[in-house]
Order: sequence, then structure tokens, then C-alpha cells
Amino acid sequence: MELQQNILLKKHNTFGVQAIAKQFAEIKDERQLIELYNTGIFKNRFFVLGGGSNVLFTTDFEGTIIKISTKGIQHFIEGTNIYVTAAGGEVWNDLVWYCVRHDFPGLENMALIPGTVGASPIQNIGAYGTELMDVMYTCRAFDTLTGVFKTFNNKECGFSYRDSIFKSKHKGRYIIVSVTYKLNLHTQRNTSYGAIESELTKRAISNPTIKDIAEVVSFIRVEKLPDPKTVGNAGSFFKNPIILNTQLENLKLSYPNIVNYPIDTMHSKVAAGWLIEQCGWKGKEIGEVVIWKNQALVITNKGNATGKEIFQVSKEIIDSVFNNFGIELEREVNIL
Ligand code: EPU
Repeated sequence: MELQQNILLKKHNTFGVQAIAKQFAEIKDERQLIELYNTGIFKNRFFVLGGGSNVLFTTDFEGTIIKISTKGIQHFIEGTNIYVTAAGGEVWNDLVWYCVRHDFPGLENMALIPGTVGASPIQNIGAYGTELMDVMYTCRAFDTLTGVFKTFNNKECGFSYRDSIFKSKHKGRYIIVSVTYKLNLHTQRNTSYGAIESELTKRAISNPTIKDIAEVVSFIRVEKLPDPKTVGNAGSFFKNPIILNTQLENLKLSYPNIVNYPIDTMHSKVAAGWLIEQCGWKGKEIGEVVIWKNQALVITNKGNATGKEIFQVSKEIIDSVFNNFGIELEREVNIL
């Protein structure tokens, strides 16, 4: 394994911003992580990159960027359960389509989420009514503190909305090298999400296959979200905030249309895209930074935006949402 010096990161992040990494290592075989551990690099600053789809470089990186490029997908069937294991460097959407091709239900609602398998448990990715935590069985991780591999079961990952121990308590400590998903042949199709239902109706599909759902989800995403291959972005820039129901009731007095989803008896989730749109940001251009015209939760790079400029716009959005609604948005994207 080769440690490269002064590597340009523009093509390694879906925002397409320029930054330089002092060192860069590409991992194609998980044993290379032990080699890397033995060089002592984990004692200094490092950052693990999967597809680079959830990161914003605001400055050069004075440490080692580790890109996980391991490949391979396997499965075995036991009764009605299907265990699918994928290497951390596999593209998430390729895994979804592997399952669709084999007629294994469970991942189809998460079609076309950018990023890699290794990143999927870190922020408990989710879309259209399904989350990673619903399907993850175990994940195997390399402990950069001790240099050994460890397997975590679903419960040990401490999953919650767009969060896990890998993002909170153990932030930066573990590198996910593979993930095993537990699917079941009898899993019911989940078409309850409004946009899926209406698109299926439009297509006159009343009994959708897994493939139908994966296609419809991909279609909705393409319509609504910019393709990172052509427009730099990192998907939702912010999380949907969870607020107290008492605060929501107060807000409803002034904003009866506030988009919200009940969480429990005390809390509700509010659509951050709606809050940002109400503050007038949707479609707005600030130099090279553009708030996506079809989904205000997504910040895009016209081509030459710097990470600092994007970060500054995100700060202004947070301030304006706070001033208007008293709600503090939290960034979903990793800021470096
Ligand atoms: N809305 C607006 N204006 C906007 C955007 C949204 O009013 O500009 C309102 C609409 O009423 C819409 C509602 O907000 O019905 C929800 O919007 P959407 O269905 O697009 O979902 P979201 O809550 O904004 C979340 C995820 C997305 C995921 C979609 C679909 C987060 C932070 N984002 O967005 O995930 O694709 O649900 O399940 O939870 C990502 O994480 O990168 C991502 C794209």
C-alpha cells in the first residue's frame, strides 16, 4: 500500500470543492489497515472517506485521508432469511440493485442514496420510510485505537435518526470494513410514503415488485435531487430538526402549514426543507453557491464554490431559520 503526498481532493468529494490532503491512502484489501496501523498514522489526524458524499472540505487537510475501496458482495439464505454481506467500499446503490436483481426485499426504498456501504451505518442512512437500522444485522469495523477488527450487532451501533455511535461516542475511531444486512423473503413492500404511492398510481402499478419500487424511488430522487455527477452537492445538508410538541403547537399558531411528523408523545420532526424555503432560500444563488430549486435542504456548488463559501451560506441559513422559527438546524454533512 502506497502513502501518497499532497493529493487534490476535488474528485474525491461530491461537493466538488478543491482542497489538498497532506497524505492519502487507498485501501483495497482490509489487511492494509493493519499495515497502516503499524506505520503509526492513526496516532495523528486522519479522516476516512467512502464515496465522499457527506463531507465538506473547508480547508486543506493536514493529515491522512483514507479512502476505502474494498469490493465484494455475497449472500446466503437460511429459511426465509437472507444475509447479504458487502465490503465497505462497494457503492451503496450497487448493493441495492444486487438485492433487487436477486429479488431480496428490504433495501429498495433506499435506491440511489449516494455513498458507500461502509458509510451506511455511520449516519444510519435512510429514505422513503426505510432506514439502515431496519436492515443491518452486523458490521465489521477496524479499531484504529487498538489495531484489531471488531464486529458490532445492530443494538451495539446505538442507531437513531441519522446517527450512530460511529458518529457520536466513537466518532472517528472505527473504520467500517463490511456490513451484513438481514433481509427476509416475506418482507412487505413499503409504499406508504406519499411520493411513492402517487408515482405508482401514475404508472398504474397496483401490486409493485421490488424492482418497481427501486425504479420509482430512483425516479423521484432524480426529479427532486441534483445528480452529484453533474452538480456538486452532498444530499441533505441539514438534519430534519426534532422539537418539543409544545414548541410545535406555538409555531402552528403563526404557521398552520408547518410540515411535521410525530415522533413520540413529546416530540415531532419538522421538515427542514420547508423551514428553509419559508425563509426565502429556495433557488437562491450566492455567488457560486446555489440552494437547490426543487429541495431547499440541498446546497449545491455551481462549479467553483469553495468549502468556506458553502459553509458560510449554511451558517446564514441556520441563523435565518433560528431568527424566524427559534429552531436551530444541525448540519448532517461532516465539516472538515
Ligand atoms: N419541503 C418543502 N420545501 C422544500 C423541501 C421539502 O416544503 O424545499 C417539505 C415538503 O412538504 C415535503 C417535505 O418537506 O413533502 C419532506 O420533503 P422530502 O420528502 O424531500 O424529505 P426530506 O424530509 O426533506 C428526507 C431525507 C432525505 C430523503 C427524503 C425522502 C433527511 C435530512 N433527509 O428529506 O435524505 O431522501 O427524506 O425520504 O432526513 C439525505 O439524507 O441526503 C437525503 C437526501
